[in-house]
Amino acid sequence: MGQQADLFEDSQYIAMRIAEVAYRLNVSEASVRNWVKAGYLQHRDGIGIVRQSFENFCHNVAGKEKLVSRANKSRSSQHDHVELSSKILARLQAGEAVLPLTEIYQNSLSDSYRNKEGIYYTPPDICRVLLADIALPASHKTFCDPCCGSGNFIIEAIHRGFLPQNIYAYDSDPVAVALTKQRIFAETGYKSDTIFCRDFLEDTVSFRDESLFFDVIVTNPPWGKKIQHIEKEKYGKLLGESRNLDSAALFFFAALQRLKEGGFLALLLPEAFFKIAAFQNARQKLLEYKLLGLRDFGRPFKKIMTRAQSFCLEKNKNRLRKVLCSVNNTSFTRQKSSFVNNPAAIINFSVDSADEQVLAAIFSKPYVTLERNAQWGLGIVTGNNKKFCRSEPFENSIPVYKGTDIYKGHSHKVTNFIPDDFSLYQQVAPIALFEAEEKLLYRFISSELVFYRDTEQAYCLNSVNMVKLLSGFPFSHSLIAKVFNTDLYSWIFKKLFNTHKVLRSDLEKLPLPIEFLKSKNSFSESELIEYFNIGKQDNGTFRIKG
Ligand SMILES: C[S@@+](CC[C@H](N)C(=O)[O-])C[C@H]1O[C@@H](n2cnc3c(N)ncnc32)[C@H](O)[C@@H]1O
Repeated sequence: MGQQADLFEDSQYIAMRIAEVAYRLNVSEASVRNWVKAGYLQHRDGIGIVRQSFENFCHNVAGKEKLVSRANKSRSSQHDHVELSSKILARLQAGEAVLPLTEIYQNSLSDSYRNKEGIYYTPPDICRVLLADIALPASHKTFCDPCCGSGNFIIEAIHRGFLPQNIYAYDSDPVAVALTKQRIFAETGYKSDTIFCRDFLEDTVSFRDESLFFDVIVTNPPWGKKIQHIEKEKYGKLLGESRNLDSAALFFFAALQRLKEGGFLALLLPEAFFKIAAFQNARQKLLEYKLLGLRDFGRPFKKIMTRAQSFCLEKNKNRLRKVLCSVNNTSFTRQKSSFVNNPAAIINFSVDSADEQVLAAIFSKPYVTLERNAQWGLGIVTGNNKKFCRSEPFENSIPVYKGTDIYKGHSHKVTNFIPDDFSLYQQVAPIALFEAEEKLLYRFISSELVFYRDTEQAYCLNSVNMVKLLSGFPFSHSLIAKVFNTDLYSWIFKKLFNTHKVLRSDLEKLPLPIEFLKSKNSFSESELIEYFNIGKQDNGTFRIKG
């Protein structure tokens, strides 16, 4: 016991905002205020609801007396977090080794709770690689992990030479804070009082203490954590992020704000951050700074299918044109401008510079896109294909295409029939779109683009989507299908988006070269390739000619 750091002085007084309590309990803020008045919850002026009283409330009152049914439902799908936290904290205080306790803690969290709170601790070898990108610290440099979890980045920072008194961390989970404090103590004998049990976003937007800016910030922030909408908007506005209010983007803006000029920031993020439209503002901000490196780590988290990727930046706006990229154990450089010039500032760093030159050549020609030029629709979402689909027609049924019925330029025989009563289904696009004189059908799940021009008012399931060009668009359905069905366009699609889902937002970024398409009466892929001054290689890739 005497060997323990003072882990608990923070966790007793951790406060929560009324809005957060309301969100967690799935009730209105007014109900929370009433429960404060009734003495169920303890409120301290200027601090908020005392966390311990919230936890007691969840444990002893919620469900038994007060909670509404929806809140009960969300609670029942979770483990008993109050009990788990108390057990872990008690075992830590009793002197149990911190690393096995961290494992027990993580493994005891229900999946839904882990996902809701974004509790996925980063494997130490990844922490090591992220920190290796940063210059070795001088003795006075400060390091911060704004959502430290069990302190894996902190321990690596200490190994890299940061002094424990220059280490700062935040986490909204009291168990995480206790684990991190104990690990620092076990590693260095130093009892840190700069590991805070606080919400880092809240701390940043209500920030007053000017000393708390950091030289180095490295972390893996929560991805896709559910944050109450009102809160998200507040953070979004204050942090300058209005478009995407995902927790990963908010942590990026907050960390950037808390970084000293000339400081280093490295974040481990979902692949989506680097490529999907929703993160465009964050990417544009990132590209304003000196981007030092980009790395792909594959899929390091069990049960999470998304790839984990990182960036490392130095907070100054000096131009550094070359960015070191590491993918599949190979490293190469990319010009930063190649990301800046990509549609939606996509940071497609799995693409090497030879690929990038081809993309640049294609985007250098005048082009239009399908954005705002077409009407889009999803195939029918029945909600239960097993129940509704039959392989033979039956009374009052309609034929429906599915993804594998669609081939480049033509369709296979329809293989499914469903009742024609659309009220049975979860989602049905406007009938007028299905019944349009002509439209394009395309496979939704596919590693290449597969388009088919339909003139027979075909229906489809949601493995096929539809697009109808608006009148006035300069090119025909047949021409667009031909262009998208080329090997070149599947290659462009793969190099830009690297996905098996053919999303409308990605299709809307594909360039349709106006001059070329207007000048030809008949379309040929080889002429198009020639127009871009590129050549197709035997292995199917494309390269600039000469
Ligand atoms: C993906 S885990 C990463 C933990 C640690 N940085 C690591 O890489 O091992 C995210 C952490 O963020 C914490 N967290 C979530 N929301 C937070 C917030 N608003 N402020 C501070 N920490 C938060 C969670 O409790 C969790 O420990």
